Amino acid sequence: MNGSNAAESPLSPEDLQRFCDFLYRQTGMSYGEAKRYFIERRIIDRMAVVGTASFAAYMTLLRVGGPETEQLINSFTVNETYFYREDRQLVCLSRALLPEVIARKAPGDLVRIWSVPCATGEEPYSIAIWLLENWPLVDAYNIEIVGSDIDTRVLADAHVGDYGVRALARLPADVADRYFTPAHDSVRQIIQDLRESVKFTYVNLVDRAAMAAQGCFDIIFCRNVLIYFDEASRLDASKNLYDALNPKGFICLGHTESMTRISSRFTVRRFDDAVVYQRPEG
Ligand SMILES: C[S@@+](CC[C@H](N)C(=O)[O-])C[C@H]1O[C@@H](n2cnc3c(N)ncnc32)[C@H](O)[C@@H]1O
Repeated sequence: MNGSNAAESPLSPEDLQRFCDFLYRQTGMSYGEAKRYFIERRIIDRMAVVGTASFAAYMTLLRVGGPETEQLINSFTVNETYFYREDRQLVCLSRALLPEVIARKAPGDLVRIWSVPCATGEEPYSIAIWLLENWPLVDAYNIEIVGSDIDTRVLADAHVGDYGVRALARLPADVADRYFTPAHDSVRQIIQDLRESVKFTYVNLVDRAAMAAQGCFDIIFCRNVLIYFDEASRLDASKNLYDALNPKGFICLGHTESMTRISSRFTVRRFDDAVVYQRPEG
């Protein structure tokens, strides 16, 4: 940044590029000149919080890693989500995907479902609620639901499980009443049984080792994140997701996202309610 007053001194094009390269290497998220205002606002806010006087000093702090890098990443993520988002995929989950998955298993076996990224938890909790409400075999299998994200702040919120009116708007009222406490100041908390049924973990989709450490899943929901990546990080994420699937496992993307534009390794499955991608057998 030029000059002494950070708030009035925008980043030079070189500074902006240096910062975007750093963020990209850390997260896969691809920002550039077009988002200059968004980027500068966040950097200025973070510099004010940590009390660094110059952009160069702030970059040095980021390069050291540690808590400020985590806070910076948290401030750049877009965490928009809500219960029963794109619910045709949930219909597909109980009608088509799970029947295929359990055909290869015995009653009591582990079925692993991964919501990555999960943001503030609405997606993995929606999966849990949907299965309790709509899948008669839910008690016959050992269902493990994991929610993961790169943003430590939203993971903490997901643990707490407090939700406002907007997040809950698509849930039928009787369903909300069964799984949430009564509203207090317009906030309802998801019941303890459900909070304990979803495991939340920190994961970076473009970090190969961190992804591998989560083990393999039968079904992955990876929705509305690849839109923030460029082609190279989408490809990296798709490789990591492929390796995280059991053979014949399924992956659901957001409705504006397409795996066929990223990788040819998955089989495209067109079900009545959704298009889903499948890891082949071999
Ligand atoms: C728009 S939300 C999507 C949440 C949910 N899947 C949905 O569709 O409602 C995008 C999430 O992606 C997360 N994210 C961004 N880059 C990531 C990365 N490299 N690894 C894991 N999560 C990431 C953000 O923190 C944010 O919570």
